[in-house]
Amino acid sequence: MLELKNISFSVAEDVGRKEIIHDLSLKVDNRKFVVVTGPNGGGKSTLARLIAGIEKPTGGRIFLDGEDVTDKSVTERARMGIGFAFQQPVRFKGWRSSTCCVWPSAENFSSARPASIWPKWDCARATTSTAR
Ligand SMILES: Nc1ncnc2c1ncn2[C@@H]1O[C@H](COP(=O)(O)OP(=O)(O)O)[C@@H](O)[C@H]1O
Ligand SMILES: [Mg+2]
Repeated sequence: MLELKNISFSVAEDVGRKEIIHDLSLKVDNRKFVVVTGPNGGGKSTLARLIAGIEKPTGGRIFLDGEDVTDKSVTERARMGIGFAFQQPVRFKGWRSSTCCVWPSAENFSSARPASIWPKWDCARATTSTAR
């Protein structure tokens, strides 16, 4: 279960602070599909960034299956199963697919993985490791 307890997020402005999320609590049970709707600028993307760890809440805690993940990095959360899909695809400046694509080695071979998706899979893997 994903649980947000009294989450707040504010940013510094020229004068004072702007509160984007105020005292938000919610629970999402495992294997549930939840959609958050709201007006433009309402804080939906900010909420997703807080859950993924891209932003840190200024108040409150986030738990995954009872474990406090508030201070965990994006990478640690990703390993625990929290993913984030960007609205705009991430671009790696100066990289071309020909530079990052690697052909699968023999130990990566799996009969369950059709040959047609090998290049795609390895390109994604190489890009991810380059981004770290
Ligand atoms: N890091 C930030 N600094 C300043 N303002 C921000 C920051 N993150 C979000 N905001 C502001 O918070 C509000 C909510 O944004 P956002 O989460 O993108 O809304 P939504 O995804 O619901 O359209 C917007 O007014 C946005 O400009
Ligand atoms: Mg948004």
